[in-house]
Amino acid sequence: METFEAITSRRSVRQYSGAAIPDESLKKILCAGLLAPSSRGQKPCQFAVVRSREMLTQLSRAKAAGAGMLAECDAAIVVMADAQKADTWLEDSAIAIAYMDLMAADLGIGSCWCQICMRKAKDGTPAEDNVKELLSLPDPYRVAAILALGMPRTRLPGHAAEEADFSRVHLY
Ligand SMILES: Cc1cc2nc3c(=O)[nH]c(=O)nc-3n(C[C@H](O)[C@H](O)[C@H](O)COP(=O)(O)O)c2cc1C
Repeated sequence: METFEAITSRRSVRQYSGAAIPDESLKKILCAGLLAPSSRGQKPCQFAVVRSREMLTQLSRAKAAGAGMLAECDAAIVVMADAQKADTWLEDSAIAIAYMDLMAADLGIGSCWCQICMRKAKDGTPAEDNVKELLSLPDPYRVAAILALGMPRTRLPGHAAEEADFSRVHLY
């Protein structure tokens, strides 16, 4: 698939068929995250692959809303970053997630970004604290988001190139 085709066909997929993601595809998605650029090439991100149904269910409760797909997906990649290693940990995490998201689209695998930092659980606990406790992450680690992955239950229509709103582009 060409890059632009992957960009236009990519959608957030929250419903999955239940079929397993091929190991090769999961490896390629992780490869995309590991090869993503980072500020000064410091690579502060680490990637936790979660396939345990019990852990996926617990992660889906880490924040109050918008994490339900984690309980249904085949695998989730928790992107954590050492904030002491790079002050750009959030940007570095975001770009790694975006690369993995696009790689998944290219491979026909459904994916959905699940925001963690700056979100709260139903009881008001920061979602990040909940994820860090579940995965026993040491303190310098921050968690920007989790990528849910699964074989799509249905194919969602992509975004037409015409949807790109050029009124948001400003020439100087
Ligand atoms: C920074 C960011 C945070 C997001 N957080 C969530 C989330 O917590 N839960 C969710 O279901 N979708 C989340 N999404 C997915 C967006 O809702 C989705 O990208 C948007 O509605 C556009 O739909 P599309 O991805 O199908 O084009 C997030 C996307 C981004 C880029």
